[in-house]
Amino acid sequence: MDAVLLERIRTEPDRSAAARLALEHQPGWYHTMDLLPGVATPGFADLRPLLARALPADLSGRRCLDVGTFDGFYAFAMEDRGAGEVVGIDVVDPEELEHPPLHREGNLKQARESKVMPGDGFHLAAAVRRSSARWLGCNVRHLTPEAIGGRVDFAVVGTILQHLRDPVGALERVRDTLRPGGEAVLIETISVPATLKHPRTAVAEFRPARPGNRYSWWVPNLAALKAWPAACGLEVAPGRPYLYRLPRQAGVGRGDWLAAVRVTRPDLTVPAQAVDLGR
Ligand SMILES: C[S@@+](CC[C@H](N)C(=O)[O-])C[C@H]1O[C@@H](n2cnc3c(N)ncnc32)[C@H](O)[C@@H]1O
Repeated sequence: MDAVLLERIRTEPDRSAAARLALEHQPGWYHTMDLLPGVATPGFADLRPLLARALPADLSGRRCLDVGTFDGFYAFAMEDRGAGEVVGIDVVDPEELEHPPLHREGNLKQARESKVMPGDGFHLAAAVRRSSARWLGCNVRHLTPEAIGGRVDFAVVGTILQHLRDPVGALERVRDTLRPGGEAVLIETISVPATLKHPRTAVAEFRPARPGNRYSWWVPNLAALKAWPAACGLEVAPGRPYLYRLPRQAGVGRGDWLAAVRVTRPDLTVPAQAVDLGR
């Protein structure tokens, strides 16, 4: 993204003109999000209705990570909630995405033709918002505390696990970036039919087997979306997570909803409480 353009947008005194410049220079948006009050990007995914229930209201002073940030919707939402520092990571090149093999060439052709470059929407939105959130090219497979300048207090993992062959491996990488006692929220697709059919058993639908699927590998039921982080040693918040029904549109599977599962990296440095064994 052109650094001169970004500086012009950041310093333009007329903020509506700054937003217009950003919108003119981006051929397509993934996120519908507010750049200014009353000025939103025309994105594919409007997740604004779920924010109040899915994210903590107050992230004051916390160091935050947005995994698979795309245009930065959750990164900016964390900043709006007072985060002290926000880093959003994503791939640098669509070639890095884990396309199901039969659709790899078609997906890459479409990505090239769209002229949407990873990070551009984020940088343009950040310039309009005069945000200090940072975009970092980092594949989640290579995510380490060092890669993002140290551990974080809070992370969002949003609609990325279904696009990975190895979702549990990605969650291990996220776990290691959380400080002990740090928290994350997984705002991920679940299959409602698989959840109703298997309320207690962790199962995932293998989506390359579904006609029309082009981007997804595994879509879990709710039990699996809790079992995956638990398998990495993350503590899953008890109770029913917030569920959000996705609108029916291209790319959203029938019966796919989002579930916001809260997890914590246990702080093993805190001495265990004395347990009264009743003796
Ligand atoms: C469906 S979008 C979700 C965007 C946003 N997190 C949300 O929940 O609205 C998936 C995002 O994950 C990114 N992504 C996919 N595979 C990735 C990987 N291996 N490492 C980092 N980012 C990845 C994509 O480039 C894209 O930005």
